[in-house]
Amino acid sequence: MTGQSITIWDILEKKQKSEKITMLTAYDYPLGLLLDRAGIDIVLVGDSLANVVLGLESTREVGMEEMIHHAKAVRRAVKNALLVGDMPFGSYKTEKIAVKNARRFVKEAGCRAVKMEWFPGCPKVTATIVKAGIPVMGHVGLTPQAAKTRKDLKVQGVNAASARKIIENAMALERAGCFSIVLECIPDKVASLISKKLTIPTIGIGAGVGCDGQVLVTHDILGLFDRFKPRFVKRYANLNDSILAAVIRYRDEVREKKFPNQDYRFTMKQKEADKLL
Ligand code: KIV
Repeated sequence: MTGQSITIWDILEKKQKSEKITMLTAYDYPLGLLLDRAGIDIVLVGDSLANVVLGLESTREVGMEEMIHHAKAVRRAVKNALLVGDMPFGSYKTEKIAVKNARRFVKEAGCRAVKMEWFPGCPKVTATIVKAGIPVMGHVGLTPQAAKTRKDLKVQGVNAASARKIIENAMALERAGCFSIVLECIPDKVASLISKKLTIPTIGIGAGVGCDGQVLVTHDILGLFDRFKPRFVKRYANLNDSILAAVIRYRDEVREKKFPNQDYRFTMKQKEADKLL
């Protein structure tokens, strides 16, 4: 397997050069191939796997085994992008558990870094993982793993006091050694302020254009997942419709004996057929 060509240093340099960072999620080999071919900078094996691939209600329901399984598949495809594994709910309960699981992403799945959602104690755990030699991407603002119900998945930091808390959290993660930080679902003014304050890049999702980069869930932008659509999601394709139309055509052609026709069959010499009969 060849090495990935985009490094943590390239990502940091992009901020210095004011070049926007592109990041998307992948959970399997075919999507990993396409994102890499398109030149996406960072591919995240997100715990959104739970919702968009495994059909679960919450990201809290996905565990390390599933994350590693899917990360391995993505790794086989991704040759250029920086591959990041998302630490699932419960995988960073203590510093020791966090380092063990972060190592699994690197050693077993070939990820270059891990992402971890904010929680009280996050800077300490982050510092320990970084000290163990594993780069960490932070995640503040809306942290879906902390949401108990879908109603909790809402914009954060809309008043000065809560915005200030998010800014403080982001600064604490920079001090703890994060190489970048996801800002999810916060007002654009707050995200711009954080992006200016930090030397590490910010990657926004529902956080406006002032971030140093952007991330979305790939199944959302492709229209492959329509159980719910956050307001910040832009649909760039509607693959559900295309796939459904193709499957219906196949179904009808099989029923009507139009498929397989001559073009899709194997033949044998008449002599052999006669012998067989
Ligand atoms: O799991 C995920 O997909 C994420 C992002 C979209 C940032 O955490």
